[in-house]
Amino acid sequence: MPAQHARIQSIEEYEEAYRRSTENPEQFWADIAEPFSWRRKWDTILESDMVEGHNKWFKGAKLNITENCLDRHLATRGNKLALIWEPNDPKTRQIRYTYRELHQEVCKFANVLQNNGVEKGDRVCIYMPMIPQLAIAVLACARVGAVHSVIFAGFSANAISDRVNDAQASVVLTSDGLNRGDKQIPVKRVVDDALHHCPSVRRVIVTEHLGWPVNMVEGRDVWLHEELEEVEKTSPAEEMDAEDLLFILYTSGSTGKPKGVVHTQAGYMVWADYTFRNVFQVNENDVYWCTADIGWVTGHTYLLYGPLLSGATTLMFEGIPTYPSAGRFWEVIDKHSVSVFYTAPTAIRSLMATPLDNVLSYSLDSLRVLGSVGEPINEEAWHWYYTHVGKERCPVVDTWWQTETGGIMISALAGITPSKPARAGLPLPGVQPVLLSQEGKEIEGNDEEGYLAIKYPWPGIIRTTYGDHERCRQTYFAPYPGYYFTGDGARRDEEGLYRIIGRVDDVINVSGHRFGTAEIENAINQNSHVVESAVVGYPHDVKGQGIYAYVICREKISKEEAIYVEASIIETVVAEIGKIARPDKIQLVTGLPKTRSGKIMRRILRKVAEGDTSNLGDTTTLLDPNVVDEIIEGKK
Ligand code: WTA
Repeated sequence: MPAQHARIQSIEEYEEAYRRSTENPEQFWADIAEPFSWRRKWDTILESDMVEGHNKWFKGAKLNITENCLDRHLATRGNKLALIWEPNDPKTRQIRYTYRELHQEVCKFANVLQNNGVEKGDRVCIYMPMIPQLAIAVLACARVGAVHSVIFAGFSANAISDRVNDAQASVVLTSDGLNRGDKQIPVKRVVDDALHHCPSVRRVIVTEHLGWPVNMVEGRDVWLHEELEEVEKTSPAEEMDAEDLLFILYTSGSTGKPKGVVHTQAGYMVWADYTFRNVFQVNENDVYWCTADIGWVTGHTYLLYGPLLSGATTLMFEGIPTYPSAGRFWEVIDKHSVSVFYTAPTAIRSLMATPLDNVLSYSLDSLRVLGSVGEPINEEAWHWYYTHVGKERCPVVDTWWQTETGGIMISALAGITPSKPARAGLPLPGVQPVLLSQEGKEIEGNDEEGYLAIKYPWPGIIRTTYGDHERCRQTYFAPYPGYYFTGDGARRDEEGLYRIIGRVDDVINVSGHRFGTAEIENAINQNSHVVESAVVGYPHDVKGQGIYAYVICREKISKEEAIYVEASIIETVVAEIGKIARPDKIQLVTGLPKTRSGKIMRRILRKVAEGDTSNLGDTTTLLDPNVVDEIIEGKK
């Protein structure tokens, strides 16, 4: 009988696990790692330098994560459903894969990759819609030891080429097109545009999805279905070192271009599985649904790796919450008897704004656990979710984490540790959060607020930023040496539960998607009308935060011209980043509030964007205080 993965089942067990994880972390993680399928066990559990940001878990171990996601389950769960795919259009066919079938599909895709010259360590960029081949492609990369870098299929050609070039990818996986509600988007064409600027790419493998004719570049592009025709149905998994790269995922920070967050094999695997199992408390017969796209970290860890490592049934949805109606999520839950449902506050808020009948006309009896991720969930949304979706019987887990943390850090364990509106809750075992003052002093006690940092490494901690470790050190480890700095502010309430307040750096969170203000400003500045711009976030009813851009133009723009200039600026941002980064408001200004040393005072811009101009604080250090009046007058 192989050792079993245990699950925390009571508050006492949580407390005991938490205590052990801090008293003897290495032994704690060795015990948790034990039951996985290892080709070779580790020599050391942890080697850590939290000043330089070097962390190695399970060094010396050999494994392949897909053997743990798939092969390991074949004997006991071979005929269990691994993946259910629900299409964009409810009238078209759903697709289901048992563990055995998924294993075979992954092996076949792995053989296609190898036949196309993909080798261990190569970087493969994936720009695909939410179709089963995306999940299979990601696992196939892991099977052959290639480093996958999934790019969300809403990013623009320019954003793709930046990422492909940074990763120096040799192969790109894509599809002819994608469905998004009532729209269809020619994905391959976007990739073609991107690849004009990507000399490292020598092969593009295209999945047929919409059946659209596409331009195939001779010698570079091949169709997946043709490549699959004669491949073997099995594929031995590549043996990987614990610290070999598993994936790169690009995410925005407060400066410069998005950075490639790197996760490695063993630590990520242990962390994804442990957090999934304990937070969601998924049982053998549950159907679990995470609505995130695989293009984001939530899709990596909690649509794909976590559920499959745990042997769960995971549902993948191609569509959007409002197509063909705002009852679509609830319809899918009833149709597949979903028991654990994990989504984002922005989706909840957008559905809350529609008639209540959209949700009340579904039974939702199968639901047992609800999850939230990506941004703070406001109390109103929390109550709506708890009352109308969960019918006051499903615990809500508000899970706080980041691309860099690999998996959930602070959250209730469903039905076990306290779950309160607008509180992420207690840290998971292995996570040691602290609140720091501006000077970097740990703030003791409850009912306190500060910068959220983590004091001790956990297995899923970011290993580096691809090709540039200094950037990783600077961003996460240098601000408070010895700690991992999250970039978030948090409050510890009277009971010691954490409440995440939001970013304390120049990152804005729009519908749960991260953007650096500098990143959007750089995009806006590409527009030929623009001299300079400053972007801030402001509270937005549905998106959480909206994007407010103050823009200085080269020439004087009349009121009539302004409409065209603003449209042209939006077009530039869409071309540089993608539709998801479109500014919600653009205000043309003649100056920005700058200090004498030339620094933009964003605090003032934020206040104006929020509509709170009564107390702008000290403006005497401004080079030209008059610009503030002009900006207030012109506010949108
Ligand atoms: C925010 C998404 C409040 C936070 C998994 C963090 C949250 C950033 C929560 C990471 C939550 C994520 N409550 N805020 N439950 N979850 N955030 O990398 O600001 O896309 O730093 O990872 O989202 O976003 P990322």
